Amino acid sequence: MKRILVTGAGGQIGSWLVPRLRDEYGASSVMATDIRLLGPEVTDAGPFQVLDATDPKAVGQAVMRHRADTVYHLAAILSAIGEKDPRLAWHVNMMSLEAVLEVAREQRCAVFTPSSIGVFGPDSPKDPTPQDTIMRPATMYGITKVAGELLCDYYHTRFGVDTRGVRFPGLISYGAPPGGGTTDWAVEIFHAAVEHGRYTCFLSPESQLDMMYMPDAVDALLGVMEADPARLVHRNAFNVTAMQLAPRKLAAAIQEHVPGFEIEYDIDPVRQAIADSWPDRIDDSAARAEWGWCPRYDDAAMTADMFEHIQTR
Ligand code: NAD
Ligand code: SER
Repeated sequence: MKRILVTGAGGQIGSWLVPRLRDEYGASSVMATDIRLLGPEVTDAGPFQVLDATDPKAVGQAVMRHRADTVYHLAAILSAIGEKDPRLAWHVNMMSLEAVLEVAREQRCAVFTPSSIGVFGPDSPKDPTPQDTIMRPATMYGITKVAGELLCDYYHTRFGVDTRGVRFPGLISYGAPPGGGTTDWAVEIFHAAVEHGRYTCFLSPESQLDMMYMPDAVDALLGVMEADPARLVHRNAFNVTAMQLAPRKLAAAIQEHVPGFEIEYDIDPVRQAIADSWPDRIDDSAARAEWGWCPRYDDAAMTADMFEHIQTR
């Protein structure tokens, strides 16, 4: 029986991943943790503990007490908040990953850590961005993600820890709001459309970025963790994508569901510069070949499903 510990469980990904893992492996097998107390939908549905993932001793004790064999490490600071406070991003992203990997080495756990399209920078080819290419990111977030991919590779080759990961694009979901990234506009726009019929976007109309609907992201996460290790060449850094969206294009798709929806632009230079440094389209053929990655939602299917759920809620 699997025994799982999730850090950063209250975030955009964790709020989807924890219920899915509890369905899959049994509620009592999945310990959700976060630096803050979470709501009853998490704490009443299975084990929960407040845990600062940057504290190696506390992480070690939590893993031991829960007898975890797998850690899904989601605690992190995202790109836009990382540019507001780069030292916080370095501290949280690097100290927590190092703590989790050391505990995994000592207690023989597998580790999933998400990387990001943020590993790429202005020197990377933009369309398509290959799996293996120049990675010189211009953000502190990207720097921590490149270092994190390398650290996970190191713990695998040096110590035999089963580390795995994917480079997520911007993730779109209903439920927990996004946590301060450059791709947050692609979630905010849906809520603004339903509540106000209009949205003011902080990126320019043609800023194209890779995106993915959260059900596909959770499938990717479980897919890479369940993959045959013998087939994995890029263990910790698989490019994965499902669609490419720019604000003008998504606004047009939304107008089909909300007639009269209007978008205007008030560009934030910090987030625009981050978006401009990221790929237009990443090449995810390595993930498709090595573990069968195949998204289910394109932009039309995602848009319809988002409206169905937001309107119901
Ligand atoms: P999020 O910001 O929504 O959630 C992060 C969670 O971590 C929050 O609940 C927060 O309370 C918690 N946290 C912060 N500091 C902590 C600490 N010191 N100890 C324990 N918990 C702490 O983030 P997310 O969108 O769920 O992202 C999870 C992971 O996926 C991150 O590594 C992120 O870089 C990566 N990722 C996310 C996206 C995306 O679009 N959401 C895209 C690419 C990669
Ligand atoms: N959605 C994330 C961000 O914008 C990408 O890693 O920070």
